[in-house]
Amino acid sequence: AIERTFSMIKPDATKRNLTGAITKKLEDAGLRVVASKRVWMSRRQAEGFYAVHKERPFFDELCEFMSSGPTVVQVLEGENAILKNREVMGATNPADAAEGTIRKEFATSIGENSVHGSDAPETAAEEIRYWFSDTEVVG
Ligand code: CMP
Repeated sequence: AIERTFSMIKPDATKRNLTGAITKKLEDAGLRVVASKRVWMSRRQAEGFYAVHKERPFFDELCEFMSSGPTVVQVLEGENAILKNREVMGATNPADAAEGTIRKEFATSIGENSVHGSDAPETAAEEIRYWFSDTEVVG
């Protein structure tokens, strides 16, 4: 089925001017960018977005990093978009990521791992709603 998923290009990647290179990998996989904007999120926005992780030992480090520079938030659309996006991203830890994936090619560590993508339909809908209004998503 045609799905929508939420994707973020993280500060380590925007800093290295990789927005285009990462977006090209997503597009080459058949995903369409139907919404996109560059945001420098506040610490509070990062904490809200990653609220499910608030008990994790890396939560502070994660929110500090995500608010340390610009991020590009996107909505991707396509056949099986949620799973497809996760395949193109590769494993969370770049050391475990498969050849040709975004994290294998660009990520430097488990924390600075260049991209985020939703893991399920419910979280995709929630994450899209967190960053975009309906009129900003243009299919
Ligand atoms: P992401 O898909 O954005 O969702 C949660 C993030 O937490 C994850 O990618 C990682 O970047 C980050 N993360 C997971 N484990 C660790 C860790 N051990 N140390 C730092 N960051 C982590």
